Amino acid sequence: MKLWAGRFSKEADKKTNDFNSSISFDSRMYREDIEGSIAHAQMLGECGIIEKSESALIQNGLKEILTDIDSGALAIDPDAEDIHTFIEGELTKRLGQTGKRLHTARSRNDQVAVDIRLYLKKRAVSLREQLVELVSVLCDKAEKYSETVMPGYTHLQRAQPITFGHHLMAYTEMLLRDISRLDDAYKRMDEMPLGSLALAGTTYPIDRNITAKLLGFNSISQNSLDGVSDRDFCIELSSVLSIIMVHLSRFSEEIIMWCSWEFKFIELDDAFSTGSSIMPQKKNPDIAELVRGKSGRVFGDLMTLLTAMKGIALAYNKDMQEDKEAIFDAFDTVTMCLTAFIPMIDTMRVIPENMRRAAAKGFINATDCADYLVKKGLPFRDAYKATGTLVAMCIDKGLTLEELPIEEYKSVCDEFDDGVYEAINLEKCVRDRKSLGGPAPENVRAQVNRVKRIIEEIK
Ligand code: ARG
Repeated sequence: MKLWAGRFSKEADKKTNDFNSSISFDSRMYREDIEGSIAHAQMLGECGIIEKSESALIQNGLKEILTDIDSGALAIDPDAEDIHTFIEGELTKRLGQTGKRLHTARSRNDQVAVDIRLYLKKRAVSLREQLVELVSVLCDKAEKYSETVMPGYTHLQRAQPITFGHHLMAYTEMLLRDISRLDDAYKRMDEMPLGSLALAGTTYPIDRNITAKLLGFNSISQNSLDGVSDRDFCIELSSVLSIIMVHLSRFSEEIIMWCSWEFKFIELDDAFSTGSSIMPQKKNPDIAELVRGKSGRVFGDLMTLLTAMKGIALAYNKDMQEDKEAIFDAFDTVTMCLTAFIPMIDTMRVIPENMRRAAAKGFINATDCADYLVKKGLPFRDAYKATGTLVAMCIDKGLTLEELPIEEYKSVCDEFDDGVYEAINLEKCVRDRKSLGGPAPENVRAQVNRVKRIIEEIK
């Protein structure tokens, strides 16, 4: 029997009922729905809107329902319209008339709005823990490889020497921004809409401070229309989640490249790789590919939410039921991705020799060669041109700058002497890049310490 049976003369068509129902995806909020109802019942009792004794019975009944769902003794009815209806119905089954008093001074519109916030607040906290863990894993790896020279790239062309530790630390910066964005979104989400009712508040003498305090909200929404029709927090969170996926996807792309025989900078642990059904030699970075692929779903979820919200008049409209699948999917996807991604990074084998070999080949010390001439007094543009000529000469002869004889250097510019070989030594080139934020091993170690301190503080 529907909640609105009094007004209607027919039962809903079965298929329409399924179409209308949200139980298949909102039942995961049963705990939060019950928590919200317990707080509401307590407030109704304290404000004298229902008898204190009835409030106590309702609260106990709700606690029992929670225990029964948790233990599996009570199954959630897949034909119920939504989780709110199911729990209220179950309470009434158990308590009779008293159960029917719970929904006094409340609407499903403010109920669902409070449930989602309660649920997402918890999800945000666990996601934050995962992000912090990834940052910590990266710091440990970066520390270990703070001296490991590798080519840095622009346009995917070898550009200048960096260290592997420096490269990894770039991702910690992105992840720290992700954490700060999540914290920011959390602050705005931490506002309690319960007490907005359907859209226009109530004539009952409710006290919203009581429920806000009981439910652990930091503030209370100040406009009843906005209270029930705001889903900004879902949009904000899915945008935070999308940016996280951008970062994980870029990282995955690099992992995939680094695993290829063309690079072979790293090897993933067998537990995080897969083989081929036909090619016996294959070891594929499926996890990284899936993370890269799944970014699309999360961006899609953001689009779903933006589109669902953009055209609806105030206040609640059923379109808003679409919020849950999108934001849940975004959270589930990012959580799953991180669950696989973190140990994959933690267990990957780094192959410094291959990084060093790649660094030796792409003339990535050409800038340092030019800088050497600048230090001898040449204007940078002239030094750049002379070095360009040397690189062309090397390519022609199949040599690296390190291998080119000093006579050839001198033939291009007589400022060169044997000191140039020291100046273009890759280890020295990296060691000297001590500018703030640069890749010198001592910088990387300082960055690691700084980031480790930050995550200790924000944990
Ligand atoms: N299942 C609904 C949702 O998720 C709950 C709110 C229903 N309110 C209503 N007036 N139909 O949005």
